[in-house]
Amino acid sequence: MNTIIPIASGKGGVGKTIFTANLGITLAKMGKTVIAIDLDLGSSNLHTCLGIKNQHPGIGNFIYKKGISLESLIVKTDIDHLYFIPGDSLIPGTANLQYFIKMKLIKAIQNLVADYVLIDLGAGTSYNIIDFFLMSKTGLIVTTPETTSILSAYAFLKTTVFRMLFRSFPHKSKERELIHNFLTERIEGTDNSFLRLTKLLNNINPKSGAYGLEQISDFYPRIVLNIGRNKEAISLGSRLRQICKKNIGINMEYVGFIEYTEQVSASIINRTALVITSPNSQFARAVKQIAANLIKITYVDKPVLFESGEDLVNLDNFV
Ligand SMILES: Nc1ncnc2c1ncn2[C@@H]1O[C@H](COP(=O)(O)OP(=O)(O)OP(=O)(O)O)[C@@H](O)[C@H]1O
Ligand SMILES: [Mg+2]
Repeated sequence: MNTIIPIASGKGGVGKTIFTANLGITLAKMGKTVIAIDLDLGSSNLHTCLGIKNQHPGIGNFIYKKGISLESLIVKTDIDHLYFIPGDSLIPGTANLQYFIKMKLIKAIQNLVADYVLIDLGAGTSYNIIDFFLMSKTGLIVTTPETTSILSAYAFLKTTVFRMLFRSFPHKSKERELIHNFLTERIEGTDNSFLRLTKLLNNINPKSGAYGLEQISDFYPRIVLNIGRNKEAISLGSRLRQICKKNIGINMEYVGFIEYTEQVSASIINRTALVITSPNSQFARAVKQIAANLIKITYVDKPVLFESGEDLVNLDNFV
C-alpha cells in the first residue's frame, strides 16, 4: 500500500509544481520510494521542475489506449528512489474526464508500489481536480499568504467537502437532493454551516447524519504556506484554519512555511531543483521540515465514495 498525497490549490501559480518536485526529491533522499505524478492535465510541467526531458509517453496513453498499464509509464529519474509519471498536454485540462476513466486512473494510482505517491494537480475547482484530491482525506493545499490565494483555498475546500458529502450517498437518494439544495444557501458571515447540513441529514435518517459528520471529521487536509515574505504570514494560515472549522466543520493541519526564495525561478530555468543545488538553503530546510512532518502523520483510510452519477451544479457560483 502507498500513501497518496495530492497537492492542490484554489488559485494557480502558488508554487504547487515547484513544491511537488522538491518534496519528492527530499522524501527520496530520506530513503522513501516516491512516484511523482503530473496530473495537471493540459498544462503539465512537473518534468521541467524535476529536470526530466519531455520525451516519455504520458498519462493520456494509459487513459485512451488499450493494454497500457500505469506502471509501464513510470520513468526512472537520476535520483535514487524517485520515479515519475508524465502528464499529458494533449488532454484539455478543463474537460471533465468521464467518471469510469477517473476511477480507472484512481484505482491504478492506489495500486502503485511506492512509499509515497505525490500528485501535482492543476489549479481550480473542476471535478477532475477535486476527485483526484479526494483520493486522500489528507491532501495538501498550497497557498501563498495573499488574501486572494487564501480565499481560493477556502473555496476549494468548501467545494471539495460538498463533493465528498454528495458522493457519500447513493445516486437519486434524498440525501443527495438535500446536499444539492444546501449548495445555494449562504454560509459565510452567517450562523449557517456544514454542521447544520449534517443535522438536516439526520432528519432524513440518523445514520446519514452520523455518516456525514464522520466524513467531515475524517477529512483532514494539510496546508503549506508558500512564497511567504515574513513570519506574520503564518497568521493567515491560522485564519484559513479558523474559517474552515467554523463554516465547513473541517480541521486542517498546518505543515509548513516556505519563504519567498529568489533562486526558485533560476532553478526552473536550470532544470535543477533547489533542494539539490542548495541543500542548506532556508528553502531546502523548510521542505525537509515539511517532509519530516508528513512522514510523522498517520494516514486515515481512503474514503469510500459512490459514483458521482448526477454531477453537482457548478459550484464556483456559490463559494
Ligand atoms: N518559494 C518560492 N519563492 C519564490 N518563488 C516561488 C516559490 N515557489 C514558487 N515560486 C514561483 O512561483 C511561480 C509558480 O510556481 P509553480 O509553477 O510551481 O506554481 P503552480 O501552483 O504549480 O502553478 P499552476 O497553478 O499554473 O500549476 C514560479 O515562477 C516559481 O518560480
Ligand atoms: Mg503547476
